[in-house]
Amino acid sequence: MIKQTIVAAISALAASAAFAADGTPAAADAQLIKQGEYLSRAGDCIACHTAKDGKPFAGGLGIDSPLGMIYSTNITPDKETGIGGYSYEDFDRAVRHGVAKDGHSLYPAMPYTAYAKVSPEDVKALYAYFMHGVEPVKQENKDTDIIWPLSMRWPLGVWRWMFAPDVATAPVSVDTKGADRAALLRGQYLVEGLGHCSTCHTPRGFALQEKALTEADGSAFLSGGVVDGWLAKNLRGDATDGLGSWSQEDIVAFLKSGRNGHSAAFGGMAQVVGDSTQHLSDADLNAIAAYLKSLPPVNKDAKPLAYDPSVAQALRTGTDKGDGAMAFLNNCAACHRSTGKGYAETFPQLALSSTVNSADPASLIHIVLKGAQMPGTTAAPTAYAMPGFDWRMTDKEVADVVTFVRSSWGNKGAAVTAADVAQVRKDVGAAPQPAR
Ligand code: HEC
Ligand code: HEC
Ligand code: HEC
Repeated sequence: MIKQTIVAAISALAASAAFAADGTPAAADAQLIKQGEYLSRAGDCIACHTAKDGKPFAGGLGIDSPLGMIYSTNITPDKETGIGGYSYEDFDRAVRHGVAKDGHSLYPAMPYTAYAKVSPEDVKALYAYFMHGVEPVKQENKDTDIIWPLSMRWPLGVWRWMFAPDVATAPVSVDTKGADRAALLRGQYLVEGLGHCSTCHTPRGFALQEKALTEADGSAFLSGGVVDGWLAKNLRGDATDGLGSWSQEDIVAFLKSGRNGHSAAFGGMAQVVGDSTQHLSDADLNAIAAYLKSLPPVNKDAKPLAYDPSVAQALRTGTDKGDGAMAFLNNCAACHRSTGKGYAETFPQLALSSTVNSADPASLIHIVLKGAQMPGTTAAPTAYAMPGFDWRMTDKEVADVVTFVRSSWGNKGAAVTAADVAQVRKDVGAAPQPAR
């Protein structure tokens, strides 16, 4: 027994000695590095800083912007090509202030306007992780494809001056008014800060700035934005197109497993769930959900939708022979069922769905044209997929089926035209429509 303890103590000592020999910090800092790793998940740094099939955090992922392609940079601790030579101050200046070590302003494709909210303690943990917990990779950064004069960086300094918020100086505020209030504050901190949810879920203004960075800036905050041809939906309390009908538990299940009884993650959100939110603790997910549930709706007067069973009846008895109903029966009903209720957590419901009822039909048309795949998560490993119909359905057929879905089972979305579909087909690079 004693011998075992001594052996364990000696091997622990040996391990920590080996640790120190190659310059990595002692065991006391291991905890900090681990915390930094967790925070890097919350910030989803890997999503943008890893190229397709590339090494983690080595950069080189092209991010499309209206100006041209911007490439993420190598943030591994490699001394020559990465950020191995960055001091804590250099790192903080890039992550929260949007200024690189050599003094040039970063493109806001790096969401520093959100990370400005991150507390100094959390930035220290992130720094410890990026210096000591990430494998260094030698990989040169790529220049942007933006052509001169737009490629000049100095206007970015003006942009920063106009739109970037103040950087947090205080530790995260702790509230003494009880656990519920503390959870709300924690949720707000994660949503506004590391989670940078607003980067996708808030509409943008004339200079591509987010119209609101916090709830205090107004109800544009998290009211929905379009990213890569997907509508990052309204996350406020709206009854038809927001999270009004979702419970706190529904939101937690969605962020943890990528699906719930209402919907399943697709587009940019599939990646957010896959490499970020599924790794968060239940306490943090509950805090995020509680905070989202506290956001009032944009439209306070909208009534919740009610399910209408008459459409399912008409489909079953064959009384609806319209083009939209026929297209639905032939292409969609096998999975989403004639009731529009699908199979929970497998084939999402279309009845009363916020995707279907959003005023902007971008996601709906996009998913019918190109299909989608849920993320496989630890909580729900099967990544069910929907096939794309771009090569099987004409613009008119897609418009018919989408209009049918938007007006059936109690849904109240406006009609979609063949011209709308043609535009999305072009924007998202779907296959040309089939000849008829
Ligand atoms: C939405 C995409 C996105 C996310 C998420 C993101 N970054 Fe970035 N980041 C970028 C882009 C793009 C650049 C390069 C910007 C430029 O060249 O102007 C960048 C630049 C940087 C730089 C400056 C590097 C240099 O060469 O000076 C650092 C440091 C950095 N990011 C760290 C992080 C950390 C840490 C996280 C997570 C907390 C993170 N980034 C999350 C897109 C992102
Ligand atoms: C890279 C862009 C992006 C980021 C960042 C992002 N989302 Fe999303 N999100 C989307 C898109 C696109 C959708 C619509 C597709 C879907 O429903 O999965 C979506 C959908 C959702 C939904 C489902 C809403 C519904 O009514 O079906 C929730 C909940 C959600 N996001 C929460 C969050 C939270 C919380 C964060 C921050 C931690 C976040 N998102 C960050 C792009 C993003
Ligand atoms: C083979 C089964 C299958 C068929 C056929 C199918 N879908 Fe889907 N559909 C899915 C799956 C699986 C998802 C979830 C995809 C994801 O989350 O990435 C989905 C998601 C959707 C969504 C998003 C719902 C949400 O909020 O999460 C819509 C809208 C949709 N489908 C409409 C249609 C329409 C319209 C058709 C016919 C043109 C169709 N689907 C055909 C399986 C199918």
